[in-house]
Amino acid sequence: MLVTVKKLLKKAEKGGYAVGAFNTPNLEITKAIIQAAEDLKSPVVISTSEGEINYAGLEFISKIVRIAANETKMPVALHLDHGTSLKMALMCIQAGYTSVHIDGSVLPYDENVALTLSVAEVAHKEGVSVEGELGHIEEHSELHKGKIKDLKIKKTDPEQAKKFVKETGIDSLAVCIGNAHGLYEDEPKLDFDLLSKIKDNVKIPLVLHGGSGIPGKDIKKAIKLGVRKINVNTELRVSFIGSLKSALDENPDEVVPYKIFPHALQSVERTVEEKIRLFGSRGKV
Ligand code: G3H
Ligand code: ZN
Repeated sequence: MLVTVKKLLKKAEKGGYAVGAFNTPNLEITKAIIQAAEDLKSPVVISTSEGEINYAGLEFISKIVRIAANETKMPVALHLDHGTSLKMALMCIQAGYTSVHIDGSVLPYDENVALTLSVAEVAHKEGVSVEGELGHIEEHSELHKGKIKDLKIKKTDPEQAKKFVKETGIDSLAVCIGNAHGLYEDEPKLDFDLLSKIKDNVKIPLVLHGGSGIPGKDIKKAIKLGVRKINVNTELRVSFIGSLKSALDENPDEVVPYKIFPHALQSVERTVEEKIRLFGSRGKV
């Protein structure tokens, strides 16, 4: 069943848990996410970044996810992740997305407000929910050589967050509290005091990006302090590619894709299940 992120997060707020947002570029990872959601009776967000959309094709990936969502009883949101333009948000809305993340976090504050507001106005007319971003979540969903502590992190300002939500009318807010995209040689150090301050100022659900590599105890604390959506991509990519490599190593003469891909699918499914348990959304359907 296809739903908006707003609807999923409203229920998560009441239940005190977070919903996982998992990225997909293809059929296999989409199937793995849906299978994990079904096995654990959990809601999920299926996200596609601009890179993933460019790879798969917007119509293809939208149809794959919407077919999967319509075939399951689990609530599934189809979400644009880190959209950078009104044009991209509009294309996704037209293609049947139920939610869009508009990321103007690299822009000066006023330009971020203008871009986010322009998306929110159109999206809300179509019943599509909107995530904005303030502060900036660094880097990409990859394995990084180097330490997260050496990144120049632009954290979310709690006073500005209050203003941003009021001025844009967004439904959820992605925050930077020391989190970054990808896996590093060290673990991120989340600023929980800052998270509490943002939570006090902002009455909409908060989103934690860069979910890969954050220790379980910190994830649990962030959820306690009000995070309601957690984005995970790199750990899924590691699962997918890692299991593909070992399946090919073990079966060097195998050329039938549908005999190799199930290994990757199962591995991603296990990773998604682990996150669903950690986020507390298991059994919430
Ligand atoms: O928007 C996607 C996420 O923030 C993924 O972050 O690759 O560090 O899990 P991650
Ligand atoms: Zn992100």
